[in-house]
Amino acid sequence: MSSKDHLKEAMVDISTDVEKLLNRLIPDVSGDEKQLFDAMRYVVFAGGKRLRPFLVVASSEMFGVDRSVAMRTAAAIECVHSYSLVHDDLPAMDDDELRRGKLTAHLEFDEATAILAGDGLQTLAFEILADEASHPDPRVRLELIRTLAQASGVHGMVGGQMIDLVAENKTLDLSGITRLQQMKTGALICYSAEAGAILGKADRHRRHLLYGYAKDLGLAFQIADDLLDHEGDATAMGKATGKDTERGKATFVAHLGPERARQQARILADQAIEHLQEFGEKAALLNSLAHYVIDRQN
Ligand code: IPE
Ligand code: IPE
Ligand code: MG
Ligand code: MG
Ligand code: MG
Repeated sequence: MSSKDHLKEAMVDISTDVEKLLNRLIPDVSGDEKQLFDAMRYVVFAGGKRLRPFLVVASSEMFGVDRSVAMRTAAAIECVHSYSLVHDDLPAMDDDELRRGKLTAHLEFDEATAILAGDGLQTLAFEILADEASHPDPRVRLELIRTLAQASGVHGMVGGQMIDLVAENKTLDLSGITRLQQMKTGALICYSAEAGAILGKADRHRRHLLYGYAKDLGLAFQIADDLLDHEGDATAMGKATGKDTERGKATFVAHLGPERARQQARILADQAIEHLQEFGEKAALLNSLAHYVIDRQN
């Protein structure tokens, strides 16, 4: 089997498993809070590439972590990611109508419900990680929680989203754009890869190698997202295109033009793979993922 097919198969497998678990963690309920659960389920089960869960599981497997254990951290990061998308699409932020091929949550439900669904997904993630089933060692659970809080919060995704909005009305230089993208997108991707090392109690050196891999991967991933916004197919992507230029977003594509941005993404993907050299064959899936991230059509 080619490495591309192997990756595809592993991605489908992990998506299926994480969706089964999420289905148990976000139940269908009745009562006055039904609308909240419906909105959370609507967003989470609309599809999505499940790239972050894949990273958690693939990196965990490099350290011999049981898949059923890793799957809980995978579900937690997908909850945080899905929350970030719901809030990113709100009228006060990117004001988008389509997400994962469906109406955005604030249009399908209403703004208040979308805000609460995001809040519910975010806090659920930490509840999942705090549970003993996520790892028998409480120090590991605490480290998973601490690192996710850092990656999601003001030093990571939330901080990056603020800079992203501020930058609509000012010009950032390349290092400013890099910092913005590493925070808004890179931080959760770094967390996903590092989680495997945390769960597997890897030494600092190996954890750092995964972090280095994901830092380059995350940046390449966001450049690819910006290229797709510029020239991708909205139907394949399940979200609108051409919005970044319209809103004056600070992206590599806006700053360098598509050709140089594409080159940069390719350099970053190659660089990501170099961090994993000492893992040899064990890193095969993560290596293929680096190619996938920049060649993807959605
Ligand atoms: C979209 O993330 C938002 C960014 C960080 C660029 P994904 O492209 O991973 O979205 P889904 O999960 O597949 O819908
Ligand atoms: C969003 O970046 C990053 C998040 C933290 C959600 P974008 O605004 O470019 O993501 P899309 O293009 O709407 O998915
Ligand atoms: Mg945005
Ligand atoms: Mg957006
Ligand atoms: Mg985008």
